[in-house]
Amino acid sequence: MRSKIDQLLAEIDSLTAVSREELEALRVRLMGKKGSITALFDDFKQVAAEEKREIGQLLNVLKTKAAEHINALRDVLEAKTETSASTDLSMPGHPAPSGARHPLSIVRNEIIDIFKHLGYTVAEGPEVEDDYHVFGALNFPPEHPARDMQDTFFVTTGDNPVLLRTHTSSVQVRSMETARPPIRIICPGRVFRNEAISARAHCIFHQVEGLYIDENVSFADLKQSVLYFAREMFGADVQIRLRPSYFPFTEPSAEVDVSCNICKGKGCNVCKYTGWLEIMGCGMVDPNVLEASGIDSKKYTGFAFGMGIERIAMLKWQVKDLRHYFENDVRFLSQFKTAL
Ligand code: PHE
Repeated sequence: MRSKIDQLLAEIDSLTAVSREELEALRVRLMGKKGSITALFDDFKQVAAEEKREIGQLLNVLKTKAAEHINALRDVLEAKTETSASTDLSMPGHPAPSGARHPLSIVRNEIIDIFKHLGYTVAEGPEVEDDYHVFGALNFPPEHPARDMQDTFFVTTGDNPVLLRTHTSSVQVRSMETARPPIRIICPGRVFRNEAISARAHCIFHQVEGLYIDENVSFADLKQSVLYFAREMFGADVQIRLRPSYFPFTEPSAEVDVSCNICKGKGCNVCKYTGWLEIMGCGMVDPNVLEASGIDSKKYTGFAFGMGIERIAMLKWQVKDLRHYFENDVRFLSQFKTAL
C-alpha cells in the first residue's frame, strides 16, 4: 500500500491534459468512484492499526496534491480558451486616427510649389528683426506710420530697435545683402502687427513674399508671373486686375485683384458685389532699395510681391473668420484632411 501511494505521489506532477475532456478523464481515473486514489481509501480499512495513522496522513497528502494538480491544469486550460476567444483574427483592426495638415500649411506649400515651377527658391529669416531690415533698408522714411507703436511690436528702443517683423520683406533684404543677381526667392513666414483681434484681423499672420532681380526685369514680367500664379491657384479661367498703389520699397506699385471665383464676376457677398478679390501687393523694386543693399540699380531691375496666406486660404475655402486658423479646434482642422 505504501509503495502504491509513493508511486502515485511521484507520478502526479507529470500528469497533463490538453483538453477539458482529457482533464475530466484524468480526474475520474484518480478520484472518481473507481479511481486509483478512491481505491486506496477503500483499502485503508485493511491497514494494520499501528500503521493507520501514518498511512492515513500519506493518503490525505496524496488526495490534496491530486486535487491541487487537477485545479492547476484546469486554470491553464481556461486561460488558453479565454485568449483564443479574444484573438479573433478575422476582426477588423482598430482605426488609427490620422491627423490633418493645417490649412495654412497646405496653402503655403501650394504657393511655394507654384513659384518653384518659375525657378524660385525658398528663403527664410528671423522673426525677431531690427528696424533696419524691416524698414530702413526698404526705403521707409523715419516718420513712416508703419514704424509706429500702433503697428509694430517693439522689443527694444533706440537707434535701430529690435522688433517683431511686420512683413517678410526683411528676408528679401537679407538675401540682397549676401547674394548677387540673379536673385529669385520666395519668403514664407510668420509676421506680427499690433492689431485688435477680430474676424478680419489678427496680431499674427502669415505671408509669402517674392523677389526677382536680374538684368532687364520689367513690369510685364511681374504681370505675367502674377497671372501664372493666380491661374494655378484659383483656376485657368481667372482674370487679374492691377490697381495703382503705394509701397515705400516699390515704384511703381500695384495691388492685384483676381476675378471672384465664387460668382464668376457677377457679384456676391464675398467680393462685395465688385466681382474682384484683392490677393496681393506688388511692384518694381525701388532703386533706393537695390542700392541700400549694394546692388547696382543701373544694371539690375527687379520686382517684388507679397501676399497673406490667411487671405488666400479664406478665398480658397470661404472661411469667414480668421480666428479659426489660430484656435486649433480639431473640428475645424479635420475638415482639411482631404485637401493635402
Ligand atoms: N511687404 C508688403 C506688406 O507686407 C507686401 C509687398 C511686398 C508689397 C512686395 C509690394 C511688394 O504689405
